[in-house]
Amino acid sequence: MTAPFRPRLPTAVLAALAWGGAAPALAQDGGQLNVICSVQAEWCNMIQTVFARTTGIKLNMSLKGSGEALAQLIAERANPKTDVWFGGTGDPHLQAAEQGLTLEYKSAALPQLHAWAQQQAQQSGWKTVGIYSGPLGFGYNTELIAKKKMPVPKTWADLLNPVYKGEIQVANPASSGTAYTMIATLVQLMGEDKAFEYMKGLHRNISQYTRSGTAPIKAAARGETTVSISFVHDGPGEAAQGFPVATITPSDGTGAEIGSMSIIKGARNVDAAKKFYEWALTAQAQQFGAAARQFQLPSNKATPLDPRIPDFKSIRFIQYDYAKYGASAERRRLISKWEKEVNALPR
Ligand code: G6P
Repeated sequence: MTAPFRPRLPTAVLAALAWGGAAPALAQDGGQLNVICSVQAEWCNMIQTVFARTTGIKLNMSLKGSGEALAQLIAERANPKTDVWFGGTGDPHLQAAEQGLTLEYKSAALPQLHAWAQQQAQQSGWKTVGIYSGPLGFGYNTELIAKKKMPVPKTWADLLNPVYKGEIQVANPASSGTAYTMIATLVQLMGEDKAFEYMKGLHRNISQYTRSGTAPIKAAARGETTVSISFVHDGPGEAAQGFPVATITPSDGTGAEIGSMSIIKGARNVDAAKKFYEWALTAQAQQFGAAARQFQLPSNKATPLDPRIPDFKSIRFIQYDYAKYGASAERRRLISKWEKEVNALPR
């Protein structure tokens, strides 16, 4: 008789399994769960493996950027196939809540979370919750920038320097929550008219608007672009793989995302969805981000912090109005204005 197939697990996952105390179960007896995952693949895969092995619930995972995930949930509204949406920037989660796509669910674990994560839940009528936060900033290839004798950009205005023409990548806000966070940040920092003038100037220096929010920093790490506009917590994971990449947050102020999680209204596997949701809010489960080399600030206050998580106290943040910029009408308006007034321009 052959032994049952056991996938090989990275050491971090094996260590993580130990905390649960549960014997690794075969993922067949506890039902299943359909999850859209909007963080990077390594973290999604780790969650998939650990949750299945500790609960016996099979996790079917689909990876989508924040804007794309929302588009899918809207498309399947009449017949939802998704149970939980894990991760991605908070604004489309708020938009999903507003559109009645997500389930009201108030976890008893809320008091264990940072105030910003609880506020995200409250603002949505308990239809989403914050699971992590991360600051927006710039990534750059340390070798290329030195070789090309370019200055390290320190402010938003610095990115308009013609020296960066064709050297900057950022994502497209229609598919990426990272890019929408940039638009909302600039509008709050400069006022709408100046922010759009700024983005038109920036457009001249952009080589490519990518589909995914993390593509630009990966391109910078690999020397395919010199500078990226990115969440700075995505830098250390690339550097840990040996790539010459560093990050900086603009000294004139920046915004932060509240990465969120929602249960889908009409979910077919609602009990398993709630089980996953509660699990994902525990300090133990929130360590898997750093274990998968993703360094957002976890929302559970008891989660041990990896030193590579950005130090929020040293960053100059704007007072980001999450309710206003997470509202459907505002998000749609700003993205279509960007399409018409910025993206349509020649470069
Ligand atoms: C990465 C970041 C997350 C962020 C997500 C947004 O995975 O690590 O913190 O929420 O990107 O992705 P998107 O493609 O929607 O910009």
